[in-house]
Amino acid sequence: MSPVSIDRHGAVAVITVTNPPVNALSQPVREGIYSSIDVAEKDDACSAIVISCEGRTFIAGADIKEFGRPPLEPYLPDVVSRIENSQKPVIAAVHGTALGGGLEIALGCHYRIAESTAALGLPEVHLGLLPGASGTQRLPRLVGVPVAMDMMLSGKFVKAPEALEIGLIDRVSGVDLLSEAIAYADGYRGQEPRRIRDMDIQEVDPSIFDVTRKKMARRTRGLISPGRIVDAVEVATNVSFDEGCAIEREFFLECMASQQSAGLRHAFFAERNVGKVPNVAKETRQRPIDKIGVIGAGTMGSGIAYACLTSGAEVVLLDNDDRGLVRGEKNIRSLFAGGVERGKITEEGMKEGLQRFKTSQNYNALANVDLVIEAVFESMSIKKEVFAALDQVVQKGAILATNTSTLSIDEIAASTSRPGDVIGLHFFSPAHVMRLLEIIRGEETATDVIATSLALAKRLKKIGVVVGNCYGFVGNRMLHTYGRENQLLLLEGAAPEYVDKVLYDWGMAMGPNAVGDLAGLDVGYKARQERVDLPEDPHFYRVADVLVEMGRYGQKTGKGMYLYDAGSRQPVVDPEVTAIIKTEAERLGIKQRDISEKEITERCIYALVVEGARILEDGIATRAGDIDAVWLNGYGFPRYRGGPMHYADNIGLERVLTTVRLFEEKFGSMHWKPPALLCELAASGRKFSDLS
Ligand code: 3HC
Ligand code: NAI
Repeated sequence: MSPVSIDRHGAVAVITVTNPPVNALSQPVREGIYSSIDVAEKDDACSAIVISCEGRTFIAGADIKEFGRPPLEPYLPDVVSRIENSQKPVIAAVHGTALGGGLEIALGCHYRIAESTAALGLPEVHLGLLPGASGTQRLPRLVGVPVAMDMMLSGKFVKAPEALEIGLIDRVSGVDLLSEAIAYADGYRGQEPRRIRDMDIQEVDPSIFDVTRKKMARRTRGLISPGRIVDAVEVATNVSFDEGCAIEREFFLECMASQQSAGLRHAFFAERNVGKVPNVAKETRQRPIDKIGVIGAGTMGSGIAYACLTSGAEVVLLDNDDRGLVRGEKNIRSLFAGGVERGKITEEGMKEGLQRFKTSQNYNALANVDLVIEAVFESMSIKKEVFAALDQVVQKGAILATNTSTLSIDEIAASTSRPGDVIGLHFFSPAHVMRLLEIIRGEETATDVIATSLALAKRLKKIGVVVGNCYGFVGNRMLHTYGRENQLLLLEGAAPEYVDKVLYDWGMAMGPNAVGDLAGLDVGYKARQERVDLPEDPHFYRVADVLVEMGRYGQKTGKGMYLYDAGSRQPVVDPEVTAIIKTEAERLGIKQRDISEKEITERCIYALVVEGARILEDGIATRAGDIDAVWLNGYGFPRYRGGPMHYADNIGLERVLTTVRLFEEKFGSMHWKPPALLCELAASGRKFSDLS
């Protein structure tokens, strides 16, 4: 049955799209709309047409699942033209979201009416694309060049009232969208349709294009599609509508074929698949979470408490140290004030949020909370004490979570009489900003505790990824190997600033040495001290250890891998560090050498891939895409590369394995023994993504 139907309400034909969940423009939908316009035009009793959608939204875009495959007719630009060329007026009735190709369909219509809650946008840039069904040519004609470029480059959604103001829609509906759309269409009966293609484009100072191109190049670091959006809009101001559409199509196909778009599309689906967790059915009952206790008012605890407050929960923050508690409360107040300053929250919202916030030093204050998130020092003995105390006071049925970044959830759970209620909720710093929430299921964690944690992630506007329990879980376990290669490269002769520049230019948000200084080199040092299973490698994290032992912890002590002027976060190269590394290399008998950029990226990134493969072998991550979602949202991995596992798939696992074997020969099996899974996949010509 076609997902598109047509029926008549008096003289108005209503074309209805029903393609759940988001009415994406799959081939049958395109076909259905195209042929429905034919039917309506031929119907003598029909004098105007409405296009509307069933379900939760208007058309949310092209069907992204079809991308990367041979395109099927009718092509979307032809469908949009077919609508616009209709001799009878066509009205788009928009509810929910009209996005990408969905908005382009609406722009093909002659008039647009939308519910007041509807939002419209061209978010193709987030998928490494530009609007490919004449959006770059029609939108500037309708709303002007600057507004159109801003919408396409930011991908932001415009709410109906603002859309009306900028001329993107013609009317906001009151109560009943469909009947208002029908009446609106009826009003245009017999009139010549108003076609955007025939509108003049607003004249602009042509320098706007170069200025925007330069701004975007700085902001988007090597992404192709923003530049192409600017090019396409510039074209719209210089050539005819049809020529502009042909050039837009070329740009669109170029972007679609790029690895960048493939990476971004992978990220889109990976982030949606993380919610599908084995043995946790979608309909699993969730526990209500209204009151949250946070233990530890330090860096993480205060950020977590603030995030929970902004999600509408009541929060009790507990710390056993007076000064710690005062500092935590101050942090939370200044986070609220910052939110008000940046317009993220209203003054009223801040007052209301702070009314839901309490501090305490007494565990009894946590008796009736629904969830506790512990964020005290990273020490197993302290965490066990805290959980044993919680077990005594917190009501039955509450979830007891730890924010540990490495320690065993099962060991922590064993200090309570209710291991089924214990889970890891690993936030990333700053906790109210970073999108990742690693959710660690212990051996005994109950299914509804996992389901509730996933729902909490959504409520906090985070990407919740459920992983298994092992040292460092997915993110930090892999980070350890990435950091290991960075450290070894330093000993072998690559300067910290060189490694940082190479990996930053490759796309990482920051270089590993700048990150180390930001997080504090002492944090990793302490974690290594607590570990009993470190590899027997005298070179392992040697540079970091030496620096920490000299009191160089990073930004907090004004020096670490770099120097920092008082009050500044700007890293300055320190010749003393070069000398320290050289001396240590000599002591260890390492001959320093010139190291290529290629070797730096391959060693650091393939170290991630190898550990990712081991994580999949161990069943710690459900699928390769989950690992990618972790690295994209918690560790600054370039989104357009899709995550480490997608990146390896892209290179080809056989090629990756050849290099890993070369590293094994050169640097030994301790770190570079190829995982069996990588060997198997490479031998059978498969990819990590084939496993899901
Ligand atoms: N194509 C295929 N599937 C899509 C889709 C699309 N355009 N948009 C969403 N979906 C799927 C999701 O994968 C998800 O599937 P699942 O349930 O199997 O995981 C389901 O629809 C629901 O999506 P969300 O979980 O994201 O639902 P939300 O309610 O949170 O958000 C949304 C809805 C705002 C529409 C969001 O899905 C979204 O932003 N979608 C992408 C919109 C977009 O980028 N459109 C442009 C596409 S490119 C284009 O149109 C090119 C054109 O110019 C030629
Ligand atoms: P922090 O040192 O900034 O804060 C810890 C707070 O816990 C201090 O205020 C301290 O007084 C309090 N505390 C210690 N023992 C306590 C006890 N028994 N009862 C009550 N309060 C107690 O530490 P940070 O950085 O916030 O880390 C907390 C946890 O979060 C650790 O497990 C860490 O591994 C984890 N984590 C840290 C990240 C980071 O970037 N700092 C990132 C992700 C996780």
